[in-house]
Amino acid sequence: MMTLDWLDQMIDRRAANSIKWTLYDEDVLPLWVADMDFPTPAPVLDAMRQKLDTGVLGYEMAPPLLRETICERMDRLYGWPLTPDDVVIIPGVVPGFNLAAHALCEKGDGVLIQTPVYPPIYSLPQWHNMERVEAALTLVAHGQTLHYEIDPDAFEAAITPRTRLFLLCQPHNPIGQDFTTEQLAPLAEACLRHDVVICSDEIHSELLLGNAKHTPIAMLSPEVAQRTITLVAPSKTFNLAGLGCAFAIIQNPELRRIYEHAGMGLMPHVKGLSMAGALVAMSTATDEWLAHVRAYLTANRDAYVDYVAQHLPGIRTTVPEATYLAWLDCREAGIQGSPYEFFLKEARVALNDGEPFGPGGEGFVRLNFACPRAPLMEALERMRVALERAA
Ligand SMILES: Cc1ncc(COP(=O)(O)O)c(C=O)c1O
Repeated sequence: MMTLDWLDQMIDRRAANSIKWTLYDEDVLPLWVADMDFPTPAPVLDAMRQKLDTGVLGYEMAPPLLRETICERMDRLYGWPLTPDDVVIIPGVVPGFNLAAHALCEKGDGVLIQTPVYPPIYSLPQWHNMERVEAALTLVAHGQTLHYEIDPDAFEAAITPRTRLFLLCQPHNPIGQDFTTEQLAPLAEACLRHDVVICSDEIHSELLLGNAKHTPIAMLSPEVAQRTITLVAPSKTFNLAGLGCAFAIIQNPELRRIYEHAGMGLMPHVKGLSMAGALVAMSTATDEWLAHVRAYLTANRDAYVDYVAQHLPGIRTTVPEATYLAWLDCREAGIQGSPYEFFLKEARVALNDGEPFGPGGEGFVRLNFACPRAPLMEALERMRVALERAA
């Protein structure tokens, strides 16, 4: 008899008011907002319970070990030599990159982004009355799979005298690629030439599939490190999206001072409960959990890609090397109107609509495969039936 993996078990997330599970009707399978239907690592939950057992949740300093734990993790993962002073504790990655824009740009200044991209990155310039400077990624299709390439000349040509910030998403959401150092180097050099600061959202950097490897852009050279704000967090990696604890790594003391100063009165202090959980998540206590989850996600990705190839002939997909997000090109699937609406209505599967990801998102949907294999396959089956009925 086949033994079930603990990741095969369904958790009732509706009882916990999960956004993913409560936004749609109960008959809808939700494969959208980016958290995982897997249990958070037990050592993290234990640390948070211990914290609750102290009986008071007051204002708290960061535990002395927290910044050191981040430095040790970056050293262990990448050989990145940091000191605790380089680490700023922030309440989330989205607040972290918005603070970078607020700290470094005036109204009307340019923020460079690579489209299509995670909606809060795409929308950031308009939220701050800044100019959105777009360097589109180039879509390349090979049969039914697709990937994206960077055009470094177009990237540099997009930079204007008022461009102050490059907001990089690395690994990239929604395309699931972790750009190589060779791909990133010309972008970083262009930023240095034009005096543009890099803010690199590396929230997915530890959700690597198969043998993928990640290098923080700040490690390209000491000059790049001096111009970069790197955002990392335990939230995606350890399924702690509700924790509200992330880290801005800023090695340049003046840039760090500007960043911290801009957050005064705006950025809430990170809660003691969250810091207690983050400390354990970012230690080695969660290594085994992560290795297992990465292997499971890799197998889910492979099962998903095989299914698309065999049963969804009109759909093209990325083969993500990082994240648990697949990006589906539905433009040749014979769907009238929005594929997001189509799959919601006709298949009762909730995906993310591609349009808010900016140009290149129309006709696309994003699928989150971080769930037990059975509901993933059921969702794909429902999509196949809906497409066949519509043909
Ligand atoms: C690229 C990216 N950055 C940031 C976030 C969210 O970060 P946080 O919840 O720490 O604000 C997400 C969540 O989906 C994401 O995909």
